[in-house]
Amino acid sequence: MTTEVVILAAGQGTRMRSKLPKVLHPLAGKPMVSHVIDSAKKIQADAIHVVVGHGAEQVQQTLADNDLHWAIQQQQLGTGHAVAQAMPAIKPDSTVLIAYGDVPLIAAETLAKLVEAANDKTLSLLTVHLENPTGYGRIIRTSGAITAIVEQKDASEAQLLINEVNTGIMAVSAAKLNQWLPTLSANNAQGEYYLTDIIAMAVNDGMAVIAQHPQSAMQVEGANNRSQLAALERYYQQQQAQRLMTAGATLADPARIDVRGQLTIGEDIFIDINCVFIGDVSIADDVTIGPNCVIENSTIGAGTVIKANSVLENATVAEQCDIGPFARLRPGTVLANQAKVGNFVETKKAIIGEGSKVNHLTYIGDSNIGKEVNVGAGTITCNYDGANKSTTTIGDGAFIGSNSSLVAPVNIGSHATIGAGSTISGDVGDRQLSVARSKQKHIDGWKRPTKKT
Ligand code: UD1
Ligand code: CA
Repeated sequence: MTTEVVILAAGQGTRMRSKLPKVLHPLAGKPMVSHVIDSAKKIQADAIHVVVGHGAEQVQQTLADNDLHWAIQQQQLGTGHAVAQAMPAIKPDSTVLIAYGDVPLIAAETLAKLVEAANDKTLSLLTVHLENPTGYGRIIRTSGAITAIVEQKDASEAQLLINEVNTGIMAVSAAKLNQWLPTLSANNAQGEYYLTDIIAMAVNDGMAVIAQHPQSAMQVEGANNRSQLAALERYYQQQQAQRLMTAGATLADPARIDVRGQLTIGEDIFIDINCVFIGDVSIADDVTIGPNCVIENSTIGAGTVIKANSVLENATVAEQCDIGPFARLRPGTVLANQAKVGNFVETKKAIIGEGSKVNHLTYIGDSNIGKEVNVGAGTITCNYDGANKSTTTIGDGAFIGSNSSLVAPVNIGSHATIGAGSTISGDVGDRQLSVARSKQKHIDGWKRPTKKT
């Protein structure tokens, strides 16, 4: 039997007060609905259907890279109506798992268990017990067995006291859905086609309805406004912090780290406060990261120290490097072992060889720097002539004096020396000294101008 997932994402999300469709609001840097899609992928669903309505085009465009089936729900006539829009594309002998685009923290294990339990004779439903069940559909049990779901607005006084509620997430046979959904009526307090009415239909058909519960209620919390979204975000980040600490990182404050992507770490890592990790970041053993660093899609080798306020993007850093404070490593930066990039240094498409130092106030772009090079303070590689980018190469052991401009394309030989304040526009040979600045003049007894009266 195949498993097909239906994700409901047609609602407007009025309470977000946003031009962006609700399900595209990011959690940990990724649209809420993408979290649900990723969980569905983890259970190896054979097909994932997304029901869209409000902002359908934008949702489809944003998720275009996923292998998804789209069902359009022009008017939001209820959750039962929404699921019905996906049914024509679903194999009748499959198990259908229903999830929600605005309930992002649902875990793959929870979904897998629901699917496992569902068959021709069993519908599996995810429920939770809430201290305050207001707003949710209530689970009606008779002698312990689930017999129906009653929505808040349709519930009696006695039913409103029930604190076991419907999460909406369930696994059920497609054949049965095909049988039940066309018979739903909108004859209820909200005038909607309620998916929840299928529970009583299942019981009527002699099926068992079994309840399962998520490990944490946060898994089934939806985000209807930005405040709820922020609560989900904080919970998610706490989980990430716990995971990192378990894996061998010391966090100066587990409440002040944000992981927006995949962060892979070794052991004995220290991460100071307010660091943000974006995309795929991998950090080897014994790395120390100072406060306020932003690291995106980068690899950091063992023993490297990244000091406060450094920003790395698409950078590859080898072992025992020393970065920052206030360094900016832009895409294509590659540091070899023990390279140093100090304060107010910007690098882009720059290879910096083993043991080389670029310590202060420098721009290195489109450059290939060898080993044991010293780049003095204020050095600029002039890589752009207004139209084209050109490359600077610097050989092993070269010494670039402070405040030099290296006008690319240009090659500096190995062990060459550049005098401070030079503007170098021609190649410099190995072991040459090159000085390109105006000669110093001396005028004896110089009289300063005086103020005219
Ligand atoms: C639904 C359940 C309720 C449950 C609650 C959990 C029904 C009738 N009620 O109520 O038992 O406790 O979820 O949060 O199912 N959607 C569509 N198309 C529609 C209607 C809804 O795509 O026509 C989507 C919404 O975008 C949303 C989800 O389905 O993601 C739930 O819809 P919502 O209107 O919020 O349902 P609730 O009234 O909260
Ligand atoms: Ca809801």
